[in-house]
Amino acid sequence: MPGVILVGAQWGDEGKGKATDLIGGQVDYVARFNGGNNAGHTVVVGEESYALHLLPSGIVNANVTPVIGNGVVVDPEVLLEEIEGLEARGVDCSKLVISDSAHIIAPYHRVIDKVTERYAGKRKIGTTGRGIGPAYADKINRVGIRVHDLYNPEILHDKVEASLRQKNQMLVKIYNQRAIDVEETVAFLTKMGEKIRKYVDNTGLLLNKAIDRGEVVLFEGGQATMLDVDHGTYPYVTSSNPTSGGACTGTGVGPTKIARVIGVSKAYITRVGEGPFPTELDNEDGEWLRQQGHEFGVTTGRPRRCGWFDSVVNRYATQVNGLTDIVLTKLDVLTGLKTIPICVAYDVENADGTHTRYDDMPTDQDAFARATPIYEEMPGWNEDISQVHRFEDLPETTQAYVRRLEELSGCRISAIGTGPQRDHIISVHSLLD
Ligand code: GDP
Ligand code: IMO
Ligand code: MG
Repeated sequence: MPGVILVGAQWGDEGKGKATDLIGGQVDYVARFNGGNNAGHTVVVGEESYALHLLPSGIVNANVTPVIGNGVVVDPEVLLEEIEGLEARGVDCSKLVISDSAHIIAPYHRVIDKVTERYAGKRKIGTTGRGIGPAYADKINRVGIRVHDLYNPEILHDKVEASLRQKNQMLVKIYNQRAIDVEETVAFLTKMGEKIRKYVDNTGLLLNKAIDRGEVVLFEGGQATMLDVDHGTYPYVTSSNPTSGGACTGTGVGPTKIARVIGVSKAYITRVGEGPFPTELDNEDGEWLRQQGHEFGVTTGRPRRCGWFDSVVNRYATQVNGLTDIVLTKLDVLTGLKTIPICVAYDVENADGTHTRYDDMPTDQDAFARATPIYEEMPGWNEDISQVHRFEDLPETTQAYVRRLEELSGCRISAIGTGPQRDHIISVHSLLD
């Protein structure tokens, strides 16, 4: 079992932090491969709850080496704050390793993220405002700054100057902002570089050597399948590849080293930010799910949009990621419902008034935006399931609901979350053998 990838199967916040922690005790490395501090991963250990943004969830496990791969965009100021906050709570971060090839989120990326969103008005994406999109745009545009550039004063100065020459024109002339000073930016990034220097290394080599020695690496995705820049609901997506392929490009480990791909799904679904969401409940049912599930963003505090489980999304996630297992979270949240709708397909009304049924994800985003869910209803349950540890001890209607989700998703459900704590879990199949 060399490499295991763990990804979000929906629109994020599925409980990836908890699922990572679940396996964390049995792996040697946990490597983030995409995104940045737009992520908010919660790990609950006893009375302590950790909200991790940039650091891999494995950081709370003393035996794990946490790695930030080359595919991540690193805001060094946020990273240092996060390390400081964790160390103040007794979490040792000294084993952290950051890729020298990861791209940097510079202060100007944050400014651009905010002003472009404001300027977009009703066309905004609803980003987290952390500078993620602008940093990845620079990477693709080949004007990004990488971690190792921070240690080469001439190159750093040249890159910042070139980048700001163009960006300042845009900031001043289009967005009516003040120009950003080159020297100040270079001095700031140099200072940050020194502070993170002790963590920086060639993580691709490190991870490949570890796998060759027989050690286990868990690749932890930020965001989720439907937020993937290639496979998600473009343009309402993040700017990276949170799907399983991103784990290889985002760490420099080849696909032949990967043995399992785990998708994390909620027993219902949520979304933060703008964009289409067919099963969204803009009514008291949605509010009920939000309150029961405490659905408020870990990173921005925004209320999450809530809806019923969408099996079209999950079938798509199984396909795009090549899922071998699903960790189904937050099943406990549904306790108390008389019946539970599951979306099995979409109905889309065409321009000429005819209707098309989609059993698989439409690639045309206009069709997706107009999709209305076709539901089937399953009976609910009232029993408290948070103390149940064996699948067969769940109420029969709960078992039937899980089995139906499994059937519709086209992938086995190997673990079930019944609460936020570490022991609120039902293990159905081992995730690591
Ligand atoms: P992530 O971004 O995928 O790591 O997920 P978040 O941390 O943003 O959101 C998931 C939330 O659900 C966190 O508050 C978790 O503590 C909580 N959680 C995870 N699994 C379960 C579960 O099985 N039941 C309940 N009730 N809460 C859970
Ligand atoms: P985790 O890892 C949920 C959403 C934002 C916005 C879009 C683009 O905790 O599941 P960005 O700042 O990335 O450019 O915003 O993506 N988004 C997330 N939604 N969970 C996340 O991370 C998210 N990271 C980004 O709300 O709609
Ligand atoms: Mg989250």
